[in-house]
Amino acid sequence: MIRVLAVDDEEPFRRLLKRELARKGFYVEAAADGGEALKLLREKTFDVILLDIVMPGMDGVSLMEKMKGDPAAPIIIVLTGKATVETAVAAMKNGAYDYLTKPYKLDELVIIINRAYDYGRLSTKSKLLEQELVRKESSARFVYKSRQVADVISLIKKIAPTDSPVFIQGESGTGKELAANILWRSSKRRELPFIALNCATLSENLMESEIFGHEKGAFTNAYQTKHGIVEVADTGTLFLDEIGEMPMKLQAKLLRFLDSGEFRRVGGNKNLTVDVRVIAATNRDIRGLISGGLFREDLYYRLNVFSVNIPPLRERREDIEELAGYFLLKYSRKFSKSVAAIARPALDALMGYRWPGNVRELENIMERAVILSDSGLIGREAILIPDAPAADGGGQLSLEEMEKDYILRVFKAAGGNQSRTSQILGIDRKTLYLKLRKYGADPKTD
Ligand SMILES: Nc1ncnc2c1ncn2[C@@H]1O[C@H](COP(=O)(O)OP(=O)(O)OP(=O)(O)O)[C@@H](O)[C@H]1O
Ligand SMILES: [Mg+2]
Repeated sequence: MIRVLAVDDEEPFRRLLKRELARKGFYVEAAADGGEALKLLREKTFDVILLDIVMPGMDGVSLMEKMKGDPAAPIIIVLTGKATVETAVAAMKNGAYDYLTKPYKLDELVIIINRAYDYGRLSTKSKLLEQELVRKESSARFVYKSRQVADVISLIKKIAPTDSPVFIQGESGTGKELAANILWRSSKRRELPFIALNCATLSENLMESEIFGHEKGAFTNAYQTKHGIVEVADTGTLFLDEIGEMPMKLQAKLLRFLDSGEFRRVGGNKNLTVDVRVIAATNRDIRGLISGGLFREDLYYRLNVFSVNIPPLRERREDIEELAGYFLLKYSRKFSKSVAAIARPALDALMGYRWPGNVRELENIMERAVILSDSGLIGREAILIPDAPAADGGGQLSLEEMEKDYILRVFKAAGGNQSRTSQILGIDRKTLYLKLRKYGADPKTD
């Protein structure tokens, strides 16, 4: 049963809502203002809040501000008589799911409550999935042939046994996460937890409570004490990925933690101590972030005891063939295909490309090549790399032209088979059909 909390200062309106929604099968409780609502929220669990904005005592917007960042907060639907654009904007900014004006239509309200409820369940679930804190030990090797990467690996092996922080930098897709994993696997702490947190995926409040935990009652719906990942990672290794995205306020707290090993849970007043080894990574220009006032210089120096820089693939072309061979093997095993080699023209195309997406892009291209190839040999036509755009930008393709070119090429390489094409492109059949029509291909049904 969906549990609804109706917050409104008008008693007759509360009564009406309660009666009508109960008849529609909802469990409903009511509160006369924000303060009363907070009290109820601490005692009971609700799925959806119907919230009036203008109320004596604590108003709707203040209540929303109080609940912001609370992962377990109910979904909010604003239901107000004073309908102005500004109120609506303020409500949505503060995280309201939807907005309805009085007098409401009961059917409409019921639909919105049901939709909000589904949305709430989905978003909690995806938050949990997103976190995916403990990474399983991956067996992936760091494949290379270049001098540059050989140096990186020997540095990693050298610093792994120390307990000092390590700062990994490199463009997107160069292998920073893999490097962090290998560092941990070569360290004394390899039998102990390796906990990863991606700082780009969480809101500021959520991130703080995720890293440092919170005490019971720290905010609405903080029913239980939650251990932060620094506690979960105690004695082990903590990987802070995309550290450049960490908000300033949290950077200060992290710095204090790194300096003293001590921290407090959100809403707590006890200092706690843990022993974790920190590895941080970013693909952002950290110097630029520092001079732009977005990253603390002192934190940077604290994290950067050892610095690992992974060069982009275009600066180590010797690795391309090695990596291509490695991914060929990986994906021909995965798809049970006996593709054994890469033809010379295909290899030339790989060697000549700029690789803006680095190793990840190479991996994707090889995966597709394995899927596309019908013989034991990967030919040039199975290597789907965009044509090099003109350096002056004059002849540069628009995004749409690139998409067209790419889709038509895959379609042709897949022998006009739509299922196969949509599988390779990772889009559904219907989308593919529409795009093929748009780009003038003949999307015959297969
Ligand atoms: N030298 C390598 N040998 C084998 N696989 C590699 C190598 N470098 C990267 N990879 C693979 O390429 C993919 C991207 O690597 P990874 O996720 O570590 O990159 P990243 O630098 O963390 O990227 P981002 O900045 O986007 O987070 C992964 O599947 C990884 O296993
Ligand atoms: Mg990464």
